[in-house]
Amino acid sequence: MKMEYVDLRDEYDIKEGIKKAAGIIKKGGLVAFPTETVYGLGANGLDENAVPKIYEAKGRPSDNPLILHISEFDEIKSIVKEIPKTALILAEEFWPGPLTMVLKKSDIVPFRTTGGLESVAVRMPSNNIARELIKASGVPIAAPSANSSGRPSPTKASHVILDLDGKIDMVIDGGAVDIGLESTIVDVTGDVPVILRPGFITEEMLSEAIGRVEIDEVVKSLSPDKDLKPKAPGMKYRHYAPKGRMTIYKGKPERVVERINEEIAKSAGKKTAVLATDETKMYYKADVVISVGSREDGESIARNLFDALRRFDDVGAEVIFAEGFDENRLGFAIMNRLHKSAGYNIIMIKE
Ligand code: TXA
Ligand code: MG
Repeated sequence: MKMEYVDLRDEYDIKEGIKKAAGIIKKGGLVAFPTETVYGLGANGLDENAVPKIYEAKGRPSDNPLILHISEFDEIKSIVKEIPKTALILAEEFWPGPLTMVLKKSDIVPFRTTGGLESVAVRMPSNNIARELIKASGVPIAAPSANSSGRPSPTKASHVILDLDGKIDMVIDGGAVDIGLESTIVDVTGDVPVILRPGFITEEMLSEAIGRVEIDEVVKSLSPDKDLKPKAPGMKYRHYAPKGRMTIYKGKPERVVERINEEIAKSAGKKTAVLATDETKMYYKADVVISVGSREDGESIARNLFDALRRFDDVGAEVIFAEGFDENRLGFAIMNRLHKSAGYNIIMIKE
């Protein structure tokens, strides 16, 4: 399949490009597009024949449900059975934006979209291209992250092209994304809302709006119990992992630098790489050192993380040492992704 590339990065008028893309969605095709979190791979979420193409292009297990993206609040009404009060408050507070809510699905949402579940995940993105595309398509767009299954989510159009060229109809380039981590997912079908995937919208922000929220046990755990099933099916899969063996070192930054340099010295003959920060990058003696930004700036770390993980593969890193970050607020989402990419190889460094 020949993939069309549409550049809407500096376009004052995006109408023409959006019209073309919407035409593909309406005909049951696949379009990758930017959102504020990561790039999504979109298809008509109500079309049982279009949705399987997403799974095929990504190599995604078919029990892993998709998020339906809407452009206006009213569009939620036809795809869910009921809208609990918590959902109304969260929508008012955080939509459009990086929050996904799990609700009871209506009959028009195919089980192919929900991986066989009776619930459906819904999000209203804030990215302008995403919203215009949904509007012009006239249907909720089912869109997982636009990466090959298991790879880090794409934060630039070039990531999408590397993973999916030849497998999809079109990619819209909207430049690098703002946030860089996938949306926070909250299940609002029960009495107490549960965070199934941490993201830019933190537990604190949610509690402030709706009171008590819980976090799915599996998300909190550092050595995931094989018997414990995450409530978001996608959270159980190996994800974000670079090809090299990666280990996270947690502790005081000075001690972490020392320890990683010791490990680098022991890795002679192997291509070594470090996931570092602006404060520490100059101290490492590895073959490749990639900084994800300043420790003072969690948003920069979030934005650069997936690109850094992909670059380790590009340079052929065999052993990767990653600094750990504080796990409060946005740091909780950052470390959730980092733990997965390291396959939970974590070393705690005592004083
Ligand atoms: O930021 C995002 O959410 C991006 C952009 C494109 O919007 N999308 C994204 O989709 O990250 P995906 O498919 O890569 O991740 C969706 C996650 C998966 O872990 C999936 O299992 C979970 O959402 N999910 C979807 N529907 C669900 C449902 N009904 N119940 C529980 N989890 C669900
Ligand atoms: Mg994904």
